[in-house]
Amino acid sequence: MKALAYLNKYLWKYKVRLGLGALFIILSNLFGVKMPRLVNDTIGYITSIVDAGALDSEGAQDELINTGLWLACLYVLFSIGKGFFLFLTRQTIIVMSRKIEFDLKNEVYLQYQRMSTAFYKRNNTGDLMNRISEDVSKVRMYLGPGIMYTINLTVLSSLVIYQMFTRSTELTGYVLLPLPIMAFLIYKVSHIINRESEQVQRQQSKMSTYVQEFFSGIRVVKAYRREHAFQEEFAIEAQEYMDRSIRLVKVNSLFLPVVVTLIGLSTILAVYLGAIMVVDPTVSFKVGDIAEFIIYVNMLTWPFASVGWVTSIIQRAAASQVRINEFLKEEPEIQNLEEAQPFNGSSIAFKNVSFTYPNSGMIGLDGVNFEIKQGQSLGIMGGTGSGKSTIANLICRLYDVSSGQIAVGGSDLKTLDLNDVRQKIGYVPQEVFLFSDTIANNIRFGIHDDKLSDQDIETAAKDSCVHENIVDFKDGYETILGERGITLSGGQKQRVSIARAVIKSPEVLIFDDCLSAVDHETEEAILRNLKRIMQNKTTVIISHRVSSVMHCDKIIMLDQGKIVEYGNHQSLLEERKKYYVLYQKQLEDN
Ligand SMILES: Nc1ncnc2c1ncn2[C@@H]1O[C@H](COP(=O)(O)OP(=O)(O)OP(=O)(O)O)[C@@H](O)[C@H]1O
Ligand SMILES: [Mg+2]
Repeated sequence: MKALAYLNKYLWKYKVRLGLGALFIILSNLFGVKMPRLVNDTIGYITSIVDAGALDSEGAQDELINTGLWLACLYVLFSIGKGFFLFLTRQTIIVMSRKIEFDLKNEVYLQYQRMSTAFYKRNNTGDLMNRISEDVSKVRMYLGPGIMYTINLTVLSSLVIYQMFTRSTELTGYVLLPLPIMAFLIYKVSHIINRESEQVQRQQSKMSTYVQEFFSGIRVVKAYRREHAFQEEFAIEAQEYMDRSIRLVKVNSLFLPVVVTLIGLSTILAVYLGAIMVVDPTVSFKVGDIAEFIIYVNMLTWPFASVGWVTSIIQRAAASQVRINEFLKEEPEIQNLEEAQPFNGSSIAFKNVSFTYPNSGMIGLDGVNFEIKQGQSLGIMGGTGSGKSTIANLICRLYDVSSGQIAVGGSDLKTLDLNDVRQKIGYVPQEVFLFSDTIANNIRFGIHDDKLSDQDIETAAKDSCVHENIVDFKDGYETILGERGITLSGGQKQRVSIARAVIKSPEVLIFDDCLSAVDHETEEAILRNLKRIMQNKTTVIISHRVSSVMHCDKIIMLDQGKIVEYGNHQSLLEERKKYYVLYQKQLEDN
């Protein structure tokens, strides 16, 4: 329950709405509680006239009708008052809960944005989605209906029970007896319903994950003719979903009968004991009082039923809030120092850098040393899993080094302003990612400046040798990519991704194996353009091909996170080790 205290700051923020909501609940109930008494008075009035045998007298019928009409009008008036304030209650408290839901979602989302890459490796996407959607919705149920029904129960039951007591203490005691039992039973039933519906929900999301994977892997599935297997597995999951849903329906159908039975019990008690009291001459209890009691009992039904339901809502909200709080209190591993320095100079030095991936414990780099001056280029080669991308990740500060130091422009990377660093680095990741948007928007992605002209976008595309391809499309730069639009070829994607980095005019440009899908001539053209653009700036090119790195000022060869060869094209050839062998082999291939 303590977890929910976190939400108090929001309740405080919307205190006026909450206060008004409570006031409207009181007003609505004040009208409501008048109605049974009115019914009692009406019955009392009619029976008194009938008992006196005065119905036959002149004008008595007219008077009866007039008074009846007047009482009915009053009854309608009370209902309208009750309904009007009920409407306002919902307008305040439920609206408040929606506003807090909005704020909380934004808070969680902001926290997601703060977190570093390691966080996203630790948590799976489904879980992250759940916190912001399902967990927040459950919390909202507490803030809206939860709070509303709790206030309502308190106000209504005190008003009604007080009224009942003024009529008959003894009868009140008997009639109220079944209500706590009902509350408890409903709590139990709601608990089971919630548990079952959660399982149904989980099965549902399992099914959608399954189908989603089928959609994204559709080409592989078709190529390997696995449709049938997918179909069978889907049928099993769907069956499970149906079984669970049917179970839920069974439990659900218990709910109303429980309520109706117990209410019936209270009503019977009211009628039976009330009748005994009516015929007992020592107590003054009339037929109208029985009617009044029956209405009271019915008025108490839903509030008491809601005790069980609300308890269950609050329990679930608390569990969700625990999960949300866990997230909110996490601090990103990559921190920006308060007195961070601006980026100054793009020389890069790795000083005895080692790095172990925190989630898997895999060693990415092991005691790596190298240095490139501003204006130089570095080529990185090495087999798969040798640590090339790890170097790129570390320069972008997607992770912090485990030991050693990275100096950029002579300062420790950790002391530099993180936003400035990311702004000054142009990074083309190994796995190209383009958004479902126009090509132009994909290229201008990293530029927050409205002054960027179409000309700038075109220049970047030309430097990346993709302009020709783009203008061939019917919509040119406005061509939409991804699910809603066309699919680019692997090489085209890589080059759009290069344009996105180049347009930033970065101080440091990192190419992570992003020329692998372009042909030899295009590769050379792009590298030539880079030389021109990156004058006096620093370039890091990661590749499996000697042709991509041979013109670099420095080249390192990695193996299992260690540098095994370090020099330039000429000196590495002379060493006649791995680099030399690769060069010979790739020369032959061409
Ligand atoms: N995000 C990650 N979490 C855990 N381990 C990782 C992660 N990324 C890489 N590794 C591990 O770190 C080691 C180095 O990986 P890295 O991605 O740097 O290799 P690479 O040289 O870029 O390989 P490739 O040429 O295939 O791109 C590998 O053993 C890999 O399994
Ligand atoms: Mg890699």
